[in-house]
Amino acid sequence: MARKKLIAGNWKMNCLLEDGTALAKAVATQVKGGKFDCDFLICPPFTLLGFVKKCLRGTKIALGAQDVHFAEKGAHTGDISPLMLKDLGCSYTLIGHSERRVDHFETNELICKKAVAAHAAGLNTVICIGETGEERDAGKTIKVCQEEINGSVPDDATAKNTVIAYEPIWAIGTGKTPTAADVQEVHAAIRKALAKKLGKATANKMRILYGGSVKPSNAEELLKLPDVDGALIGGASLKADDFIGIAKNALK
Ligand code: 13P
Repeated sequence: MARKKLIAGNWKMNCLLEDGTALAKAVATQVKGGKFDCDFLICPPFTLLGFVKKCLRGTKIALGAQDVHFAEKGAHTGDISPLMLKDLGCSYTLIGHSERRVDHFETNELICKKAVAAHAAGLNTVICIGETGEERDAGKTIKVCQEEINGSVPDDATAKNTVIAYEPIWAIGTGKTPTAADVQEVHAAIRKALAKKLGKATANKMRILYGGSVKPSNAEELLKLPDVDGALIGGASLKADDFIGIAKNALK
């Protein structure tokens, strides 16, 4: 079953108005000027969502946030609701990135609650999972991923409203990646866990992205794997040429 690849950029806590809009415009120009049989998503920081949305006008690049609160509105100082994201033109939000699991003590339970709220508001989610280096060395990679799938992915998840991103924490921003064989093995195990939870038909249609030190030079090898349906890109998404270079190599 063919799953359209999703090339997603997570800008994390980077870019101010000037460089952020310049980056978004550069990506938009390259996407408009090329023929890409894939979907694109850009997740800038909250502060730039409205500005980036304008830069992406007329392109098929989707806009996403990097996190969301589960409540509709109310007394949650500093938080952003799903409807606020919709209001700004977002169609996606990342949820459960390892940096939020670590920096903000986010649990599977909380992540699941956020996903339910995001889906109810009509947002698609990219739910992130992945093991630490210690867990990997202890041979627990697949067990950790299964637990995170079971705990973070809500029962209402469909192949339309949910994307999974497998991001081994030890590979994020380090230049290290698992071998292609390891990535395929983990993605296949994730799909199996999804099938157990959501049914085989949904699991077969759901996109599973790989994230962690993806760059133009390793994109082809990683993204041609049968269970890898795209990439969630951090550092390399901050340069338009690298981000687009990944898409080009991924589609070879
Ligand atoms: P890098 O591509 O910088 O390793 O980051 C990956 C990531 O965390 C994307 O969400």
